[in-house]
Amino acid sequence: MLNKLTTRHGRFAATILAGLASLPASALAEGGDAAVGEALFARCGTCHEVGEGARHRLGPHLDGLLGREAGSLDDFRYSPALKAAGGEGLAWSAETLDAFLADPRGVVPGNRMAFPGIKDAGDRADLVAYLASFATAVPAPEGTTPAGSGDGDPQAGAAAQAILALAGDPAYGAYLAGECVTCHRPSGGPGIPAIAGLPADYLVLALVEYRLALRDNEVMVTTAARLGDADIAALAAHFSALE
Ligand code: HEC
Ligand code: HEC
Repeated sequence: MLNKLTTRHGRFAATILAGLASLPASALAEGGDAAVGEALFARCGTCHEVGEGARHRLGPHLDGLLGREAGSLDDFRYSPALKAAGGEGLAWSAETLDAFLADPRGVVPGNRMAFPGIKDAGDRADLVAYLASFATAVPAPEGTTPAGSGDGDPQAGAAAQAILALAGDPAYGAYLAGECVTCHRPSGGPGIPAIAGLPADYLVLALVEYRLALRDNEVMVTTAARLGDADIAALAAHFSALE
């Protein structure tokens, strides 16, 4: 087919080939469509940002992902599981990303990404092609807030910012936590993540997202619906200070 193209449309084919040569090899191999991937990224956008000014949300920003070691951004608190996988040599390529997106918990057991995975191989290839287009991280301009930027929910971002601005009372948080630790044991449990020691911004955003039913766990949605801003601030102050 290429031969035919070269003979019948020589100049055209050469232009296409030159364009292809500048694409990341990985995206080419997968044959993904970045434009379709952009639409699919809505599934990731509650937790991840990409592009200019991308910041960490519940998950790390995904700029410059291809080629980087798993769990390797200095300023994001990864789970020990994801950091360990990176330490053991897991780096993000089209292949490893495809496998991780198919089955996040199977590829890195114990990681903290609350996402079931994507069954369709074509969807995964499109997402990989989209992510490959954000080759380098672009720092956020000074003074901007994550609320309203990227694909994240602006309402959740704004609510989390407001709560993080309150000084949570850890003693009150310890009192409220009595209800939580019946489920959240220090070492976690089947289907129940450990929350002691999570960063305050992560805890606040997670609870806000349950409160707004952006995350759909029924127990947590019910629990968070009863929590006011001062309660969430206090709980975050308490749990983030634990080991
Ligand atoms: C509910 C929130 C959530 C959703 C939805 C989500 N992620 Fe994540 N993701 C996370 C968290 C949290 C981590 C960090 C996991 C850890 O530290 O164990 C993570 C980690 C990752 C990593 C590893 C990054 C690194 O620096 O090593 C990749 C890649 C990733 N996510 C891609 C995706 C893609 C693509 C989607 C959408 C198809 C997606 N995630 C959906 C929360 C989410
Ligand atoms: C009846 C059991 C139960 C109770 C009580 C409970 N939780 Fe949860 N919690 C869960 C389960 C199950 C999940 C995982 C849900 C999911 O996958 O979205 C969860 C998830 C969370 C998360 C997200 C963790 C992550 O890694 O993303 C946070 C934060 C959290 N709970 C905080 C609390 C706080 C604070 C309280 C007390 C006010 C509380 N929970 C009470 C069962 C419970």
